Amino acid sequence: TPLVLLIIIAAYLLGSISSAVLISRFYRLPDPRDTGSGNPGATNVLRLGGKKAAAMVLICDILKGMLPVWFSYYLNINPFLLGIIGIAACLGHIYPIFFHFRGGKGVATALGALAPIGWDLSGMLIGTWLLAVLITGYSSLASLITALAAPMLTWMVKPEYTMPVSMLSCLIVLRHHDNVRRLLEGKETKIWQKISRKT
Ligand code: G3P
Repeated sequence: TPLVLLIIIAAYLLGSISSAVLISRFYRLPDPRDTGSGNPGATNVLRLGGKKAAAMVLICDILKGMLPVWFSYYLNINPFLLGIIGIAACLGHIYPIFFHFRGGKGVATALGALAPIGWDLSGMLIGTWLLAVLITGYSSLASLITALAAPMLTWMVKPEYTMPVSMLSCLIVLRHHDNVRRLLEGKETKIWQKISRKT
């Protein structure tokens, strides 16, 4: 229906608002696209020394996925289309129309998009990510592990969402190819490692 199409476009546009770039600018931090991993996301903003800024980026990026899917959920839109709406929000975050298509990796936005499916799944995913980050110390590795576990966890609790979640996982894993290379080379920075700020 035209309404669903409109929501898909709105989700993409909302996703396209790069909160990491805007919030870093507000806090007078360096542009996360030019420093650290070059990724406009909460992890890299934290790396640049902005704890508060990183927390805000995380919340905003989660909301970008959560709001359009939740809105659609209450309109009784079917699971397949809900998945497309969530994917549209993540595609906006990853390829933002307002920021020269240089976006993030979609982890927080995907997590937000999955929240309306149920807190059981979201809780397991957050738990997996936190556990992985505590054990390994790498945000990227925790994201990879969580993305790889997500389809199976979804299949266990909400099987009707397995397909869209698998698509999101693929997108996120592919988006981490630089991180995979750095992890294999032993060059990835741990989450608590700050990088010296250029002045
Ligand atoms: O959510 C992004 C995270 O998995 C990796 O971020 O900055 O280390 O590439 P970064």
